[in-house]
Amino acid sequence: MHLKGRWSEFTVLAQQMNDTEKRDRIVERVRPYTMVPDAAVARNIELTIEAVNNAQVNDVIVECGTWKGGSSLAMILTQKEFFGGVRHPVWMFDSFSGLLCCERERHHAC
Ligand SMILES: C[S@@+](CC[C@H](N)C(=O)[O-])C[C@H]1O[C@@H](n2cnc3c(N)ncnc32)[C@H](O)[C@@H]1O
Repeated sequence: MHLKGRWSEFTVLAQQMNDTEKRDRIVERVRPYTMVPDAAVARNIELTIEAVNNAQVNDVIVECGTWKGGSSLAMILTQKEFFGGVRHPVWMFDSFSGLLCCERERHHAC
C-alpha cells in the first residue's frame, strides 16, 4: 500500500542526502562564486534534492538575487550529481546594482 511506497521514497531521499562526498564536491566547487557559508550551501543542496523529487515535469527553479551565481550553480550541480543531469532549468535573476529602493516614485518596477 501507500506506506511501502512512501517508505522507499524516504529511504532514497535519506541516501541522497547522506552522500557527503557529492555534497562536499559541490560545496567546494561553488565556494568562489557565493557569499553564503558552506552550511547554507549544504542546506541548499538538500532543498534542491527535495524540490526535484517533488517537481512536476516542466517546473523550473528560480533564484532571485544570484550575485556571482554560486547558489544557482549548486542547484545545477546537485541535479547533475544526484539525478544524472539537469532535470529542471535554473533561472537566475539579479539587479546587478545591489538592493533596489522600493519607493514607487524612484523605481517603476516596484
Ligand atoms: C546577498 S546577495 C545574493 C547572494 C547569492 N545568492 C550567493 O549565492 O552568493 C544579493 C543579491 O541580490 C541582488 N538584488 C538585491 N535586490 C534585488 C532586486 N530587487 N532585484 C533583483 N536583484 C536584487 C543584489 O544585486 C545581489 O547580487
